Amino acid sequence: MEHVKTYHSLTYKTELGPIVIEGPLHSNELKQYHFHEKLTAFRPAEKQFEALLSIADFPEGRILVARTASTIVGYVTYLHPDPLERWSEFNMDDLLELGAIEIIPDFRGAGVASNLLKVSMLDRYMENYIVISTEYYWHWDLDGTKLSIWNYRKVMEKMMATGGLLPAPTDDPEIISHPANCLMVRIGKNVSEESIEKFDKLRFLARNKYRNMREGL
Ligand SMILES: CC(C)(COP(=O)(O)OP(=O)(O)OC[C@H]1O[C@@H](n2cnc3c(N)ncnc32)[C@H](O)[C@@H]1OP(=O)(O)O)[C@@H](O)C(=O)NCCC(=O)NCCS
Repeated sequence: MEHVKTYHSLTYKTELGPIVIEGPLHSNELKQYHFHEKLTAFRPAEKQFEALLSIADFPEGRILVARTASTIVGYVTYLHPDPLERWSEFNMDDLLELGAIEIIPDFRGAGVASNLLKVSMLDRYMENYIVISTEYYWHWDLDGTKLSIWNYRKVMEKMMATGGLLPAPTDDPEIISHPANCLMVRIGKNVSEESIEKFDKLRFLARNKYRNMREGL
């Protein structure tokens, strides 16, 4: 599968000044900007920027950013699931994981993350992918936002829905270990029936393993 990426952007005014939402960007384009030091939800900002630069150049990798004239204040990443995780078990070339999305505290609650998702889906090539996001409450900034687990989950659902990702059932042990965790999924219009069936199996690996055992496979 060829991973075609087409740039899209959206510029609008916020109370904190104009903001540009754009991408997918290559690493050399990302390097033109300062990466805000408060982008630390997943690891120190410097390390996270390095990770973004490598993902940007993966064949399937996509980085979209929210930025002021010179500073990246938010980002979203898409890439194939981690080879160590169950979601890579069938090596599906048309499966992308929304790996991380983060906005600096000053810009939160103003629709920036939702707009990052909207602009991501403007690229018609996204219709060729199944996009997933695994939501674990222990990754959420509960302290920083002062939201309860359930209100945070509502924010996640609203934000993901703007990109067409909706909660979907799975038997993934980590996800089902807490009711606030969930799998979010968007199946593009051009995804083949074969891939959809494979993905359904992937969502219920335990059930399929049990069925195979019972049938002596
Ligand atoms: C989760 C996160 C990305 C949301 O970014 P954001 O730009 O604030 O999100 P949006 O403004 O698009 O909000 C989406 C919806 O939630 C609402 N919302 C956002 N923050 C809220 C808050 N603190 N209280 C109540 N509602 C809130 C918005 O009003 C919007 O609702 P609407 O569609 O009805 O208007 C941001 O809080 C963040 O960076 N958190 C740390 C990293 C993280 O948890 N990432 C997710 C796991 S990968």
